[in-house]
Amino acid sequence: MQSRSHPSTELRKALGHFATGVTVVTTRAADGSPEGITVNSFASVSLDPPLVLWCLGLAAASFDTFGLSSQHLINVLAADQADVARHFATRGARRFDHLRWSPTEAGLPRLDGCIAWFEVGIRSRHEEGDHLILVGRIESFEIARGRPLLFFNSQFAELAGAPPAHGGRTTHR
Ligand SMILES: Cc1cc2nc3c(=O)[nH]c(=O)nc-3n(C[C@H](O)[C@H](O)[C@H](O)COP(=O)(O)O)c2cc1C
Repeated sequence: MQSRSHPSTELRKALGHFATGVTVVTTRAADGSPEGITVNSFASVSLDPPLVLWCLGLAAASFDTFGLSSQHLINVLAADQADVARHFATRGARRFDHLRWSPTEAGLPRLDGCIAWFEVGIRSRHEEGDHLILVGRIESFEIARGRPLLFFNSQFAELAGAPPAHGGRTTHR
């Protein structure tokens, strides 16, 4: 059952058998510049109150920006946005150049073409192992028609046979 050779490689492989959606989490740095990072550790925590979490690697270059900022926007990527996911996972890339996005009312970078957006206020931070768990309360969210981008076994994939989801906008304050 347990692999003893190259445990971290094998563990990565095993964890990669848990299929996830893919998000880009965005915020603003202290100087106002937009920041974004590809994230698949996003998960819902609670419906009442509405809480979600995501995990930020301690070694991320954007660690200070995300660790210190109090509002994040979770952009849930659509099936045709694998390039966006790769782009926001590439160190040193000028991430907001040549990309369609606009600021939300709160000024957070909202990427065009996603299937859902969750604007969250960070409530708590928990350092565990090599990641920081960020728990946020959903302040507003929006959904759009479309199919999700998936990540499985280190590869991007599409959901076969799924009807496109509905769209709509809901704001919780
Ligand atoms: C599909 C996918 C999912 C990822 N999920 C996470 C994640 O949940 N948390 C994280 O910190 N990095 C995650 N990463 C890695 C970051 O996107 C990547 O390391 C990025 O370059 C970090 O940016 P920075 O170091 O420039 O801040 C993921 C990468 C990919 C391709």
